[in-house]
Amino acid sequence: MKTVLILRGDGIGPEVTEQGVKVLRVMAAEAAIEVEVEEALIGAAALDAAGVALPEQTLARAGAADAILFGAVGDPRYDRADFYLQPGKGLLRLRRELELYANLRPVKAFSAALQASPLKAERIEGVDLMIVRELTGGIYFGEPRGIKEEAGERYALNTMIYTEREVERIVRFAFELARKRRRKLTSVDKGNALEVGRFWRDTAARIAREYADVETHHLYVDNAAMQIIREPAQFDTLVMGNMFGDILSDAAANLVGSLGMLPSASIGRHHALYEPCHGSAPDIAGRDIANPIASILSVGMLFGYSFDRPEVEATVHRAVNDVLARYRTADIMEAGKTQVGCTQMGDLIAERLQRAG
Ligand code: IPM
Ligand code: MG
Repeated sequence: MKTVLILRGDGIGPEVTEQGVKVLRVMAAEAAIEVEVEEALIGAAALDAAGVALPEQTLARAGAADAILFGAVGDPRYDRADFYLQPGKGLLRLRRELELYANLRPVKAFSAALQASPLKAERIEGVDLMIVRELTGGIYFGEPRGIKEEAGERYALNTMIYTEREVERIVRFAFELARKRRRKLTSVDKGNALEVGRFWRDTAARIAREYADVETHHLYVDNAAMQIIREPAQFDTLVMGNMFGDILSDAAANLVGSLGMLPSASIGRHHALYEPCHGSAPDIAGRDIANPIASILSVGMLFGYSFDRPEVEATVHRAVNDVLARYRTADIMEAGKTQVGCTQMGDLIAERLQRAG
């Protein structure tokens, strides 16, 4: 028996997660895995109900679950609230408390939807890359931080800091993953301007000597941003710090269609959380028009990493591809396809998976 904790969160979080849970139930039955689904509050929903973005009870249940399926957090009602009352803080604290240090963001082209990309189809064909983002360190968590005042002048500061242990841990993780993929790893840093970047590069180069069977490259982050757009098919596995991973993964998501199609897995030694990379998109929330594919693909990753059933992940990707051949949500709509809403897209993929099984 496996327990999956569902954290729907805010905005489109609940509606896309609903479709993810649908696929979770179908695939659990197909794979003969007994899954118990629980729910808890996070983000603005938790701030409304309990005054904090990550209630202790949610944290305790997340720690006890076999896997967590997360929706999205963020609500404009809290935009002007104190920084520690931001809904996004709930997610950041959860990542940190559960030590989910490795965030995997796979960007894999859908052969049935090459035209959904703003880039030319011939550039997208065959794109299959994996961004490994360090998730519990770097400038997101470095101290000192804050908005302060000294001698009558206000200022804000954050600290970018990585220990050797943190860099080694994520780089090793990425090398191990690259070994199971096409044995090519690109480490991304800003070593030409920042000490942290130089340190990252030196550490990654040292670890690379243990992985002589993997082809290793080092790119500065600005160059990497350009290359990801210009020639994405050259990449296999990429590894980088927290903030660079946040930025480059949004850019990479667009390669295969929209941010609504990019899933992710956040892995630690004892816990794992699966989440779409998109945000809460409050402007389209509650209208049943959001794209649930990122949540559905995140469920595929859950089977792969938490239930050790990688073939299910591949099956889900294929089912999504098959459905995309005819049906599209608004964000990736094209002439000649049938536009459907969030619920219907979830139903179509779930049906397809039932038939495939
Ligand atoms: C992401 C998001 C988060 C991040 C936000 C919501 C704090 O953008 O998961 O990419 O920056 O990590
Ligand atoms: Mg982001």
